[in-house]
Amino acid sequence: MEKSLILTGFMGAGKSSVARYIAQKLDWIELDLDSEIERAQGRSISEIFEKEGEEYFRTLETRILKATLENESMVLATGGGVLTQSANRQLLKGHFVVNLRVDPALAFARIKGDSDKRPLARAGLEELESLYSARAEHYDSVKLQVDTKGKTPQEVAEEVLSLMQG
Ligand code: S3P
Repeated sequence: MEKSLILTGFMGAGKSSVARYIAQKLDWIELDLDSEIERAQGRSISEIFEKEGEEYFRTLETRILKATLENESMVLATGGGVLTQSANRQLLKGHFVVNLRVDPALAFARIKGDSDKRPLARAGLEELESLYSARAEHYDSVKLQVDTKGKTPQEVAEEVLSLMQG
């Protein structure tokens, strides 16, 4: 069994719900990178984006990702932009990473109205589609992939667990 599990994927892929389920099942700790950032900063992701800008957020995200990766027996739900940064891709090398796939239309349906954590999702479906296409190569580059379409978080989690066992 791997030492830890890192879940990547676009917003709305269900990373946090899947992480929670797997962590319970394995009796591992479950961490959510966005929540760790919010906790460290004492403010919401939206506020960080608004007051400091995205670049500042990305620097924080890398710093907290690095610290978080020190944990063992952890399921980590990353933020949807983590793979866009080469520093983060380097940090994730050697870790057991599974990318949860979601297409932009499904992501839009799942996340609309949840803009406090997702300032980048405030726009419409079209913007979400172009954000997705700009990032697709990074999501596609993860060796282990699980498609989430038409599946419950539990079903996705079971597929991830079988990848971990296989
Ligand atoms: C982001 C995704 C969000 C959060 C921030 C930026 C992105 O995480 O990190 O709003 O760039 O895709 P989720 O994927 O958990 O929504």
